[in-house]
Amino acid sequence: MGSSLSLSKEEMPFILAVDDMPSNLELIEAIFQQAGYNVCKASSASSALEIYNSYPVDIAIIDVMMPGMNGFELCKMLKKLTSRQYLPIVLLTALNDSKNRITGLECGADDFISKPFDPVELITKIKSLLNLKDLYEELDHSENIILTLVVAMEARDPYTKGHSTRVGDFATEFASFLGLSGKDRELLKKAGVLHDIGKIGLSERILRKPGRLTSEEVKMIKKHTLVGEDICRPLVSLHGILPAIRSHHERWDGSGFPDNLAGEEIPLMARILSIIDAFDAMISIRPYRGRRTIESTLELIGNERYLGQWDPELVGIFLKMMNQMSMKGYHYV
Ligand SMILES: [Fe+2]
Repeated sequence: MGSSLSLSKEEMPFILAVDDMPSNLELIEAIFQQAGYNVCKASSASSALEIYNSYPVDIAIIDVMMPGMNGFELCKMLKKLTSRQYLPIVLLTALNDSKNRITGLECGADDFISKPFDPVELITKIKSLLNLKDLYEELDHSENIILTLVVAMEARDPYTKGHSTRVGDFATEFASFLGLSGKDRELLKKAGVLHDIGKIGLSERILRKPGRLTSEEVKMIKKHTLVGEDICRPLVSLHGILPAIRSHHERWDGSGFPDNLAGEEIPLMARILSIIDAFDAMISIRPYRGRRTIESTLELIGNERYLGQWDPELVGIFLKMMNQMSMKGYHYV
């Protein structure tokens, strides 16, 4: 694993600038590009909507006075399109009177700036709105509801109680050992906690069945990867973990599910989870067997390192981490 290992790109925000005057657009572009932002320019509302559909726009600066659809209408339309998330919009206007500001607020504008504008003031406003956007996304209430659902789901079965939380915590530990960024560690924690959320629809009878499962039951259980992805998809703050939820049962040799991905086609986050998930399941008590010791579990994982279930390089690093932890007297669970 190289030191450049990363699950997410640290990207600068995308600013959508809309003005029918090319000189204004060029000025906005110059100001924000110098500050390291990505700027997409649109000279009309229709091209702004096209850009919005093609780029991950984080914030929009819109001139009010434009031929055709004006800035107020465009603002209203963008707010409607982004109703499930927060897209801050700053209206740029020469009309600095209260009537226009009220109209702007009614259309959902978050702030205003008068022309000719002070570049420092504009950058400051944009930065503070982007901070607010981060906060909104962080405080995505539905995410907390889903996290609570996991606890409720696991409480149904004493054998899996606490499994997802442990996987989340231990995946974070492994991520630190791998040198992943704080953002990636955060994603892995969520992915660990939520990886089996799709089991919520499975009956206790199947979950606790001690004997052999029928092919129909196996099919139902396998669906939990896709159901989990569907449950988390509506939440913006969980988009980064969808590939991990979907692919945590893929196998390095391509014989896993749901997509038969192989090797590095499997997202790194899913490859990490697959090892931690298996480790925690192995050392937990199951209806059909007792608890395995950590030592025998690690031996088993080591023996199976090249047999096709996991990324062998990651398994090697995992075993190294566990070895170091045991030398420090760390006790799992
Ligand atoms: Fe699973």
